Amino acid sequence: MGKAVGGPRILAITSEKGGVGKSTLAVHLAGALTERGLKVVLVDEDGRVGSSIRWAERGAKHGGLGFPVLDPDGAKPKVLAASDVIVIDTEGRPKRKELRALAERADLLLVPSGVSALEGEATRELVDYLDGQGPAAQNLRVVLCRVPPVGNAAEEVREELRDAGMRVCNTVIRQYAAYTKAAELGLLARDVRDPRAQSAWADVVTLAQELI
Ligand SMILES: Nc1ncnc2c1ncn2[C@@H]1O[C@H](COP(=O)(O)OP(=O)(O)O)[C@@H](O)[C@H]1O
Ligand SMILES: [Mg+2]
Repeated sequence: MGKAVGGPRILAITSEKGGVGKSTLAVHLAGALTERGLKVVLVDEDGRVGSSIRWAERGAKHGGLGFPVLDPDGAKPKVLAASDVIVIDTEGRPKRKELRALAERADLLLVPSGVSALEGEATRELVDYLDGQGPAAQNLRVVLCRVPPVGNAAEEVREELRDAGMRVCNTVIRQYAAYTKAAELGLLARDVRDPRAQSAWADVVTLAQELI
């Protein structure tokens, strides 16, 4: 799967820490882009519990996600080539070599980060490494995730990260139980019964517009 001019856009998601919300972001961005009418394939390079493939499997009995979620071996070149966007969900904590390779083949490398001091530090380490790798870092964006809906934690962290020279998305993904419910049911936050489901969905739609 390489970058090709005029071919599908490749949007890869990785992080230095596990549990920051990569799979949640991958599934929801793929959903938001599909809703816009784009042909999206989600490739899951993780495959463990909590990964996107398992997410799609749980959702199959409720009507499904609306886009295919494939493992790297099941992702046929023809299917990939026919798509507008390929979203790649990864295991996280990548080895440095893998990280560089991922950055090189992606048009956009998204790094979700929590807003705690430790998560910010982990994100900074990963971004610092990529910055030292030249052009690979150009396509990197930090997305603040699991942001408390109340207070201004995100603004503070965004300023800090931007002062350190990182590109941080304006849109943040707030912390909502709707995302956890969506994961449990194998659906998108848009489609779960929850008072904040539409707020959760709105964050993802806005982020998708900012990115693609
Ligand atoms: N924005 C969010 N709001 C609330 N819970 C979230 C959010 N993002 C992720 N989670 C929850 O955090 C946990 C880890 O998320 P996940 O997407 O599996 O992370 P990763 O793929 O990075 O390991 C899951 O239980 C998920 O439901
Ligand atoms: Mg995951």
